[in-house]
Amino acid sequence: MTKTPLLVGLTHRLPASIEAKLAARHDLRLPAVEGARSGPDVRTLLATTDVLVCTVADPIGAADIPDAPRTRLIANYGVGVNHIDLDAARAHGILVTNTPGVLTDATAELAITLMLMVARRASEGERELRAGKWTGWAPTHLPGVALTGRTLGIVGMGRIGSETARRAACGLGMKIQYHSRSAVPAERLAGFQATQVTDLDQLVQAVDVLSLHCPLTPETHHLIDGRRLALMQPHALLINTARGAVIDEPALAAALARGQLAGCGLDVYEQEPAVHPGLLGSERAVLLPHMGSATIEARTAMGELVLENIAAWERGERPRNTVN
Ligand code: DGY
Repeated sequence: MTKTPLLVGLTHRLPASIEAKLAARHDLRLPAVEGARSGPDVRTLLATTDVLVCTVADPIGAADIPDAPRTRLIANYGVGVNHIDLDAARAHGILVTNTPGVLTDATAELAITLMLMVARRASEGERELRAGKWTGWAPTHLPGVALTGRTLGIVGMGRIGSETARRAACGLGMKIQYHSRSAVPAERLAGFQATQVTDLDQLVQAVDVLSLHCPLTPETHHLIDGRRLALMQPHALLINTARGAVIDEPALAAALARGQLAGCGLDVYEQEPAVHPGLLGSERAVLLPHMGSATIEARTAMGELVLENIAAWERGERPRNTVN
């Protein structure tokens, strides 16, 4: 007897090679437009498909889950799962998986990109040039600061935090301090020196660059608030490639306006895709559109992990990347 293929619903278009593999194995429901959320809403997909492949841009709260969902697996295309109510999913008999590990290098590279862009005022320079306002080389034109020899504070020494630290230490000659709630395996720290600081306030006060790499949880919501921003040194830079709500955005906009810190580099925002107007108006804020994992390599590998998670689940196994 032939097996009925699983009905797999996508909230967003995925890389073509991944969609082709999904379509070869399953009955695939695609949204119409590439790169945008254009299909049925998540609630409808949960009611009508066996497997839902969603992304960080698809909040799934308890109210979005129908009483009797057809979906039994939410295969999230991404590592962060703060946008999904994991308890509510479990209560409805839905397993949730994610794609850890494969976007570590891409995100660490983007954190370094942001550090360099803020320190060297790259966005300001490009804006000036494109506006036709560049009048030529001058000794006093757009002086930034060097990162070499500066101290980088890492908040959250997981995979991405430690790979960011490694690149900063080995590539840029930065000194590393870190704050981590859980024990850090020795192999994550291999090949570079890093000092653990148990008191987050002490870390915030001490460093020249603070880079955030912790997951968003009730404990880390607004971890960097007005009080902690006031502890930063006036020349310090703040980098966030984790989740927007780890920072109190209005407090950051106010701190930048007051000169409490020298600049920030952000890839993530509290209310994506909206960005606080105070940040949009700040010359010293480098703002990127949540593109930490946006390399062809990482986005393809994320898709391969989604395929692997679905396949394991279809075989009746508990996928190794199950998060609830
Ligand atoms: C993730 O995986 O959580 C990123 O934020 C999106 O790729």
